[in-house]
Amino acid sequence: MPKPKVLISRRWPAGVEAKLLSLYDATLNPEDRPLDTDAFRGAMQTYDAICPSVCDTLGSDILNAANRRCKIIANFGVGYNHIDIDAARANGLVVTNTPGVLTEATADIAMTLLLMSARRGAEGDRLVRSGLWSGWCPTQMMSSDVTGATLGLIGFGRIAQAMARKAHHGFGMKILYVKPTPADPEVVDDLHAERCASIDELLPRCDYVSLHCPGGNQTRHLMNAERLRQMKPTAHLINTARGDVVDSRALIDALTEKRIAGAGLDVYENEPHLDPGFLKLDNVTLLPHLGSATISTRTAMGEKVLRNLQAFFAGAEPPDRVV
Ligand code: DGY
Repeated sequence: MPKPKVLISRRWPAGVEAKLLSLYDATLNPEDRPLDTDAFRGAMQTYDAICPSVCDTLGSDILNAANRRCKIIANFGVGYNHIDIDAARANGLVVTNTPGVLTEATADIAMTLLLMSARRGAEGDRLVRSGLWSGWCPTQMMSSDVTGATLGLIGFGRIAQAMARKAHHGFGMKILYVKPTPADPEVVDDLHAERCASIDELLPRCDYVSLHCPGGNQTRHLMNAERLRQMKPTAHLINTARGDVVDSRALIDALTEKRIAGAGLDVYENEPHLDPGFLKLDNVTLLPHLGSATISTRTAMGEKVLRNLQAFFAGAEPPDRVV
């Protein structure tokens, strides 16, 4: 029996790539160049499985390809808003993701951004590097307290709860959250967390607001100009979810006019081509989508994709099937 043909769209950790080569007729991408629409459309006709990353957009123009051979899209990443799920379903394609293994790493980056934004970490680094730092003085670069402050979480899934644990148990922060259904009472008790009835109720009460909802049409521009106006002028917005959850122009205006104190961003609308308006601002910390970027996490994500592929090609239900 010939081995299934599997396409890996970008470079993966070497150990996982080696396993893929031993198990499948796998095509890797050693040069790590992004594949374009034509390449993915062609791949739909020549591979049994395509393994994209969160940076590859798989729209209906690709998933509806004629003479399709591909049967499974095994995504390297937990978010799958870059895949047209309706088109996948309509074409009978199986789609899987990698939940669970990137929770702590992503929550760590959310806390990193919160601390950097609050304590002006990136700005301080730029000052020292510029050679213009004239030494300590009592009023230099004063910033906001983190310990004991209030953190509001929009979305209260795995990553939000992990951030809440770090913030509450590590920094004594008060936790507020919004979620369509009440959270597990044990989690709520452990964090002394308070559920708000709406985002509008949560925003004015927070010193820090962190976004943890999925991307896509339902959450597009959830943080718009009106919602940003509901935040305290001393508050900071943290986004490790998806770029399009925030209206970039509205955020740039709010930061420019100092209607909020700062923002820490790991994800962007139209990533990686973020709005150049952000680059001119000192009160925004910008990271290049580093949420899951630890060696062990990226390896665990690759292992999850392997388990999904193995189950699928053995005729079993893939453990992380989303469609
Ligand atoms: C994901 O998995 O969705 C992250 O954004 C990248 O790790």
